[in-house]
Amino acid sequence: MRILFYAPAINPEAWIAALKQALPQAEVRNWEEGDVAPADYALVWKPPREMLAGRSDLKAIFNLGAGVDAILQLADGLPAHVPVIRLDDAGMGVQMAEYVTHAVLRYFRRFDQFDLQARSGEWRFLKPREKNEFPVGILGLGLLGQRVAHALAPFEFPLCGWSRTPKNLPGVECFHGAEGLDAFLAASQVVACLLPLTAETDRILNRERLAKMPQGSYLINVARGRHVVEADLLEMVQSGHIAGATLDVFEQEPLPAGHPFWKEPRITVTPHIAALTVRDESVRQIAHKIAMLERGEAVTGLVDRGRGY
Ligand code: NAP
Ligand code: GLV
Repeated sequence: MRILFYAPAINPEAWIAALKQALPQAEVRNWEEGDVAPADYALVWKPPREMLAGRSDLKAIFNLGAGVDAILQLADGLPAHVPVIRLDDAGMGVQMAEYVTHAVLRYFRRFDQFDLQARSGEWRFLKPREKNEFPVGILGLGLLGQRVAHALAPFEFPLCGWSRTPKNLPGVECFHGAEGLDAFLAASQVVACLLPLTAETDRILNRERLAKMPQGSYLINVARGRHVVEADLLEMVQSGHIAGATLDVFEQEPLPAGHPFWKEPRITVTPHIAALTVRDESVRQIAHKIAMLERGEAVTGLVDRGRGY
């Protein structure tokens, strides 16, 4: 069995060693430009078009992350009948739960304001927010969105969620479909975006939608930068309609030096670190799925290219 590996910005050696250990029968190579030698599986993150174009010899392409937008944008550069398989959590769920819970609690308990006060030596009481007036809304109730809902539940926030298809999750008021979006936004004092980036969700958080969120509400985006129209968000934050935002993802990454988000104190920026791919868990999951595929069994995480996730 021959495996191709490609993930820019990481050192491939440790991954290749871990893959060889998990799949001793496999020959694993780091893909380099011009490599058209046969392969059975490809493990990739943001692959270039020339890596996968015409590779109908592959039995499957494994995406080394949850979001498949970068791979699906290759369109006809992606061999038509080769299954694309995403990572199912693989250690990302707990990180996403930590990140979103931290952002929600920081805003709810006014730690952002207390930090600013402390820096100027100010000892001042701020009125606590009322929990029953603080519903947290999760856009996207997939593997990561549900993990976040599960993490927030013990803090007793009212929870709501929005998905494409109807859901019934204990303790979560569930909305779905285009017709459910306005009601979901109006019901959420915090919106945490955990959607995949697809034709339907591209720029979904524009001025019109942000205006549907209650006055003084808060946005957390840990999905993709293109879900948010950045100029619209900035305007809504500066007008005070949106109280602030914690953003991990941006239209252009790294966030350019002169971008107004850097200077806006109500916007917290992190460099796309909400949930990183964890090598050993990912290798274990992929090796297990390869073994299942080799036995002709079905695996989870199969991407529906038409749906876009
Ligand atoms: P997932 O399991 O595929 O879940 C996606 C959820 O979004 C599902 O609930 C789905 O609805 C919903 N959805 C999709 N299209 C929709 C639409 N048009 N309208 C309403 N709901 C829609 O994805 P995941 O594993 O939770 O990951 C979510 C995203 O997080 C990834 O795609 C990736 O972009 C991002 N991510 C970011 C980081 C980071 O470090 N910042 C790390 C990992 C992942 P259904 O349930 O009805 O299908
Ligand atoms: C990271 O952004 C991922 O999609 O896994």
